[in-house]
Amino acid sequence: MSNQPVFVTQPYLPPLEEFVPYLEKIWGNKILTNNGPFHQELEAALGQYLGVKHLSLFTNATLALITALQALRISGEVITTPYSFVATAHSLMWNNIKPVFADVDPQTCNLDPARIEEMITPETTAIMPVHCYGRPCDVEKIQDIADTYGLKVIYDAAHAFGVRHKGQSVLQHGDMSILSFHATKVFNTFEGGAIICQDERTKQRIDYLKNFGFANETTVIATGINGKMSEFNAALGLLQLKHIDRALERRRQIDRYYREQLRKIAGLVPMTPEGDHLNQSYFPIMVAPDYPLSRDQLYEHLKHHNIHGRRYFYPLISDFPMYRHLPSAQSAHLPNARQLADRVICLPIYPGLSDAQAQSIVQVLASPAKKLTIQVEPIDLADAAPSGLNAFDPFERFSNLGAVYSFAPPSLMDAAAVK
Ligand SMILES: Cc1ncc(COP(=O)(O)O)c(C=O)c1O
Repeated sequence: MSNQPVFVTQPYLPPLEEFVPYLEKIWGNKILTNNGPFHQELEAALGQYLGVKHLSLFTNATLALITALQALRISGEVITTPYSFVATAHSLMWNNIKPVFADVDPQTCNLDPARIEEMITPETTAIMPVHCYGRPCDVEKIQDIADTYGLKVIYDAAHAFGVRHKGQSVLQHGDMSILSFHATKVFNTFEGGAIICQDERTKQRIDYLKNFGFANETTVIATGINGKMSEFNAALGLLQLKHIDRALERRRQIDRYYREQLRKIAGLVPMTPEGDHLNQSYFPIMVAPDYPLSRDQLYEHLKHHNIHGRRYFYPLISDFPMYRHLPSAQSAHLPNARQLADRVICLPIYPGLSDAQAQSIVQVLASPAKKLTIQVEPIDLADAAPSGLNAFDPFERFSNLGAVYSFAPPSLMDAAAVK
């Protein structure tokens, strides 16, 4: 076994030489930030790519979430999910808003609309759902509830870059959606994020808020913050956009491969559906009781083979010290979220994951299932690759990882019993 670790993700980076002309421009015009030319260009290009009209770039998604709540003047209580990254609830706390946790649907991992409705009180002003793993929430039902009770909806769409729902961008739903362009995300600008809103006036207000509240040189309209994306990050975003479709396609190939192979292993169940409308940002699997190891044992087993899956989302947000005292944080109230937190693990998936690595990961997953005969198929990417992939070959640079990641296959082929 090689010492080369495989992590749950690895940032996609375009060829460095392609970035140099962007840097030369920045060095030439000396515009580093404050809504510079790359910033303006990226806002327009992303809006077009994602199919949304009003998009405001940010330093990161956490500041974007905090600012979105400010822009909508949300206060009191907000209903949200415990099954997410901690920034979701933290953004409420930074606004002195009380998070109220509602349970999730055990299949989709997203807020269950029926559970949202149960948690509404006179103090409730908004709902903050998360499109977990990029899988769209039940946006229609959530909007119905919001309309009925007069609530705002702010989607934490950190995972949902490029995701479509019924043929349109999922980001068009709710009052605002927030994207993350963090290094671990499908589309990265090193750090970065964006708010998508529904009209130009709201975008204008968001733009004031992210620039300390300045509306012009001498007017400050609110206690704004510094949430501006720099020219460096915006330039990188423009370059990343040129590569995004092929990077997404590679994710799809790996997703399809895992799915096909996991059908042969009892007890490991993919938690996201197949589909080109999703972005394959994560590959979460449920470790069911008929798999020989518990989720935590599997986590250790993978680690032993230098494969670092992540238990997203464990612990639940509601278990952290700043939340666990809340009545809505109690375990009995969140049985589905609790079960997912105990049973789900995310497998490595990213454009640079080599065929050999993907194959090895499946073999390691299969190895504890002793009574199993499984033929781990190699990925035949040459067939699956979209035309142009080979010419461009952004993944070639990573293929050396496959070579050093040598894997001694477990003696699966000898086993007698079939699942
Ligand atoms: C669901 C969710 N919300 C918010 C964030 C915060 O994003 P950022 O790191 O861009 O602040 C992340 C991840 O980083 C996330 O996964």
